Amino acid sequence: MNERFVTPLNLREDNEIEFSLRPKRLKEYIGQRKVKEKLDIFIKAAQGRGEALDHVLLYGPPGLGKTTLANIIAEEMGGNLKITSGPAIERAGDLAAILTTLNDFDVLFIDEIHRLNRAVEEILYPAMEDYALDIVIGKGAAAKSIRLDLPKFTLIGATTRVGMLTAPLRDRFGVLCPMEFYEEEELREIIVRSSGILNVEIEEKAALELARSSRGTPRIANRILKRVRDYCQVKGDGIIDSKSSIEALRLFEIDKEGFDSIDNKILNAIIDNFNGGPVGVETLAYFIGEELDTIQDVYEPYLMQKGFIIRTPRGRVATDKAYKHFKKNRNSNIEIEQCSINIEEC
Ligand SMILES: Nc1ncnc2c1ncn2[C@@H]1O[C@H](COP(=O)(O)OP(=O)(O)OP(=O)(O)O)[C@@H](O)[C@H]1O
Ligand SMILES: [Mg+2]
Repeated sequence: MNERFVTPLNLREDNEIEFSLRPKRLKEYIGQRKVKEKLDIFIKAAQGRGEALDHVLLYGPPGLGKTTLANIIAEEMGGNLKITSGPAIERAGDLAAILTTLNDFDVLFIDEIHRLNRAVEEILYPAMEDYALDIVIGKGAAAKSIRLDLPKFTLIGATTRVGMLTAPLRDRFGVLCPMEFYEEEELREIIVRSSGILNVEIEEKAALELARSSRGTPRIANRILKRVRDYCQVKGDGIIDSKSSIEALRLFEIDKEGFDSIDNKILNAIIDNFNGGPVGVETLAYFIGEELDTIQDVYEPYLMQKGFIIRTPRGRVATDKAYKHFKKNRNSNIEIEQCSINIEEC
């Protein structure tokens, strides 16, 4: 388990509060305007026709609210939610067993859907297209295929790696929802909402301070809020004000970009050891001693979205913004501050 403070991955400590902080209806769900608008229309249209909602694919970095949306869709459609994940379904029979327990308008949520194996995936094709389950009975020449009807359910697939989905599976989703990092203002709203539920008083400016350090990710925003609440309870009067939130963030070693030591390690490695790049992501992962998948799914998307690195066909490149952040000079890699002192001395 990655115990990094600002990881967007789910930590054990998040589970205590995530349940109570999860918005239950679409109108309580903050941000992701385009996704919300699209879902709102399709849900109303399906309800108007008395049909199940078309299958939905939610994709994007961890912690942005995919599971939350799956819960909301089930709630809005008035169906039950059944949750499973790609790696948990080992055999075709496991999936067939799940499908046959569903009722009309139920939602089947498959997390990490890119990790389904091929045999399991093939069961999904007729299930998604025709609400049907094809079963082969017997072996060899005597084998017979029979088709069972399934209820009108909605499949919601979630993935952090949409590129790894096979084309036949991807094409069977009617509603594609790319999840984006949240704006500061949206995160501020999430923090204010969560403080209300947790019964903590927070000043407007402090909420913005925490939002800024949350890497565009509600899960991180809620985790930071919880820790800063603890800090203010012990060090102050329990109210989260701007001064104490800045102190707490400093203590937790999170800067105002939401970067921690690993982001700094990645950026510094590209700048100092690979002359700003391009450097292949495998080389980079090996160099800083992190898993390749973790770099690709967790760290990189945010650094790219914030414009600190760019992806080129030849590898990752640090941008001018990254050099500026570390006060480094692109050609010589000498600290700008250091440089100016030297010039003055000359
Ligand atoms: N739009 C939102 N408004 C308010 N809170 C949100 C929103 N999206 C997510 N959250 C909060 O962030 C937490 C994490 O969201 P969620 O578990 O849905 O992310 P996820 O995308 O499924 O992550 P993973 O990829 O790790 O499965 C939730 O418990 C919820 O409290
Ligand atoms: Mg999830």
